[in-house]
Amino acid sequence: MSDFAQSVKQQADIVRIIGEYVRLRKAGAQNYSGLCPFHKEKTPSFSVHSTRQFFHCFGCGVSGDVFTFIQKIENVSFPEAVRFVAQKCGIPLPKREFSSEEEAQEGRLRARLLELHEIACTWFEEQLRSPEGALAREYLSGRGLRPEDMKTFRIGYAPDNFHALRERMQALANTEILRLSGLFSFREQEDGSPGPLYSRFRKRVTFPIANESGRIIAFTARALEAGEKAGPKYLNSPETPLYSKSNVLFNLDKARQAIRELNFAVLVEGQMDCISAYLAGVRNVIATSGTAFTEAQVRLLGRYTKQVIVNFDPDKAGANAAEKSIALLTEEGFQVRVVTLEGGLDPDRYIREQGPKAYIAALRGAKRYQDYLVERARQLYPPNTASAKIEALNFLLPHIRRIPNRIARDEFAADAAQKLGIDSALVREELKQAAAKRRDTLASARPAVSEAEKMMLRALASPPASAEFQAAAAAFDANGTYFAGLTVSHILGLLRHRNAQEPMDVLADPRDRSLLAQALMDELSPLDTEHVAAALETLRRRYLERRQRELRTAIAEAERRGDSASVLRLTAEKMQVDRDLRA
Ligand code: CTP
Ligand code: MN
Repeated sequence: MSDFAQSVKQQADIVRIIGEYVRLRKAGAQNYSGLCPFHKEKTPSFSVHSTRQFFHCFGCGVSGDVFTFIQKIENVSFPEAVRFVAQKCGIPLPKREFSSEEEAQEGRLRARLLELHEIACTWFEEQLRSPEGALAREYLSGRGLRPEDMKTFRIGYAPDNFHALRERMQALANTEILRLSGLFSFREQEDGSPGPLYSRFRKRVTFPIANESGRIIAFTARALEAGEKAGPKYLNSPETPLYSKSNVLFNLDKARQAIRELNFAVLVEGQMDCISAYLAGVRNVIATSGTAFTEAQVRLLGRYTKQVIVNFDPDKAGANAAEKSIALLTEEGFQVRVVTLEGGLDPDRYIREQGPKAYIAALRGAKRYQDYLVERARQLYPPNTASAKIEALNFLLPHIRRIPNRIARDEFAADAAQKLGIDSALVREELKQAAAKRRDTLASARPAVSEAEKMMLRALASPPASAEFQAAAAAFDANGTYFAGLTVSHILGLLRHRNAQEPMDVLADPRDRSLLAQALMDELSPLDTEHVAAALETLRRRYLERRQRELRTAIAEAERRGDSASVLRLTAEKMQVDRDLRA
């Protein structure tokens, strides 16, 4: 973290900043709790610690500092979050646009990569118009695209050539930057270093992928031919400093204006579906580019509208993807409708075969997602028998449970019961039981952490210069065995060796962060050297008791084997342990 960010963090009051988004109540000497803004809940599991300056949700596991919170809730980058918080606190921004050399570096790298993508895109477009692009042009016009449409979407052609693109770009950037662009592939050499670069996309139609502001950040490229030799139908750029697949919605740059104006978006799966729909006049269409709609994508879309028409392929994969997307969207409070096109067609083919008018009419006839799901349940489990009815109900229950609003939930339940021919009282009962079960599994999934372990966690999460930290660290280094075999052993190790890093930042696993947060929120006993010493003593005793039991078993076994040397050695150790325990 830059010095500026550090100083903003110190000056910002996390409780006040988060308090603007979440109604917080005091829950302890230094902590506050409220309803988590990142998932739907009715009882507060979201906590904020005022002096440690972090938040944590025990329900969904998100945690972090004031910047993480702003990044998530405002959907902005880290530097933007720093500026945002600085402004809120009236801290003047540093003159330089970037608050650290590292960020400036990153900014420069991103700028370089954007340039390279722009150049690559133009080059692919040129290739499409060149004699070599004849086959691709034919393919695209066969799919109903006119030259001006290809221009609108900047569609291009990556020729069947390993080196041409590198030759085009060689003078523009060094090998490392070219490699980072994701436009090239390479084989790892025996010494682990990357081998020579060659074109990732070959003999493929290229579709640029843009960020919200229309800058090209990646490509997806479709094979001209089917078959194993051609490789996967669509090949994407890998994750790069510019591009992360799960954070991008295809065509959002062109569609966002219309989405705002119309206050809804049409969500399709494929690039070609999206392009065809857009050209048919549906200007608010975006694509997930594949099957899985992610939370990041939902949040991105949520900045423009909370209403979506989902129009996925009518095949099994499409139906599964639709169900997952419905779940994510409804959970985030979206209103969702669903279109299934007649004849088992995907949007692209439907538009080509039935025309734009028919497609727009189909969108108008989109069903409420509840009706879509009930219909799907009836298809999957025709409710002719009692057991099929139960299966159909089980398919629907997770969706019903997810609805945040109680009235809407009961309505969906009653409707589902009626359409499946089930007594609605039974459905309500199932809902109640399922909710109870979920609470149980949540509770039991949380492993027990003793008070002594919590004290150690708190000590090692303190500033490294503090006396508590020093005491705990010394004990940890001197006698690591006391700390082996605990629920939190590995967390203690990570905290001990974190150097200047924030405690929460060294924990990657959300469960670990939850355990640490729990310990930090728990202020039953004060954190001072005396209490740390007492905790260490408890852990030491526990270790000795454990060791005593182990030794007893080991001695008995060695005796059975007639291994008298081991019996002697183990007995000597056990006597020492007995003495230590008496002391
Ligand atoms: N997809 C992908 N990689 C693949 C196959 C598909 O990333 N190997 C993504 C593409 O974004 C594609 C979407 O999943 O557009 C839907 O896949 P599919 O229905 O198989 O393709 P279509 O969109 O119908 O592609 P086309 O019309 O070009 O045949
Ligand atoms: Mn298709």
